[in-house]
Amino acid sequence: MSIVVTGATGHLGRHVVEQLLDKVPADRITAVVRDEAKAADLAARGVKLAVADYNAPETFGSVFAPGDRVLLISGNEFDKGRPAQHQVVIDAAKAAGVALLAYTSAPGSLSAALADDHRVTEQALLASGLPYTLLRNGWYHENYTENLAPVLEHDAVVAAAGQGRVSSASRADYAAAAVAVLTGEGHENKTYELGGDEAWSFAEYAAELSRQTGKEIAYNAVSPEVLTGILTGAGLPGPFAAILAGVDASIEKGELVVSGGDLSRLAGRPTTPLAEAITAALKG
Ligand SMILES: NC(=O)c1ccc[n+]([C@@H]2O[C@H](COP(=O)([O-])OP(=O)(O)OC[C@H]3O[C@@H](n4cnc5c(N)ncnc54)[C@H](OP(=O)(O)O)[C@@H]3O)[C@@H](O)[C@H]2O)c1
Repeated sequence: MSIVVTGATGHLGRHVVEQLLDKVPADRITAVVRDEAKAADLAARGVKLAVADYNAPETFGSVFAPGDRVLLISGNEFDKGRPAQHQVVIDAAKAAGVALLAYTSAPGSLSAALADDHRVTEQALLASGLPYTLLRNGWYHENYTENLAPVLEHDAVVAAAGQGRVSSASRADYAAAAVAVLTGEGHENKTYELGGDEAWSFAEYAAELSRQTGKEIAYNAVSPEVLTGILTGAGLPGPFAAILAGVDASIEKGELVVSGGDLSRLAGRPTTPLAEAITAALKG
């Protein structure tokens, strides 16, 4: 029996594999990767590698074995039909008879278009009859803290979220929840709504950035249409920019406040405060 992680060379996947290595022997972990060279460090530590691509069903033919516990990390190729990609993994897991398929989804409260692929994948997973866990991940701190350059350049946080709040958490927090599910018991057919312990507003985010940088950083609230224009002006494809602006509109409606405490309960510790993530990002 292996613990198999897809998207293992992505940001979240790397956290998951790293945290798994603290809990189980390396040879019980299989990292599913597209590019073996990107995972050379994991192989050197004894993690097994499987090379497979969501776009090529045949590559998943021998990835899974009966009894495996699998984490399907949702893909990032928005233009390639993610539900069909995820279906490839679900079908292969079903054919192999895995013991659990956990999927990184989006909060049930999120009505933005970004959640559409996740809802379709959830339905496919439930229809498969496989034992499942839905890890409905909220927003990452890193969506903001990894994009500080324009904020610091213009001394402004620009968002279309009004006074809405978001309970983000770090990728490492969401990874800890996934690892708890993959290594623990009793998570079959459960849905977890995952978010950080504290929700914050963009005005508070700007104030915390001001405090930590010593600069006067303002919150500039704009409409979703204006934000879409800013993002396309910065080089994002139009449809993707509109999807991101749609997420802000959902934040304004309170749809990314996930307050049930599932994340800290699964992780066994409080979630990472946003201020801590900002400090780390400013140091990096
Ligand atoms: N909750 C949030 O705030 C949030 C924010 C952004 C994204 N997400 C979602 O959460 C997922 C994980 O987040 P992340 O930060 O780890 O994203 P990421 O760094 O972009 O990682 C995505 C992973 O998916 C893999 N992948 C993409 N297309 C694939 C394909 N056709 N076949 C096999 N593997 C494929 C990538 O492989 P390579 O390593 O080979 O590129 C990568 O490992 C994202 O993909 C996205 O669905 C959530």
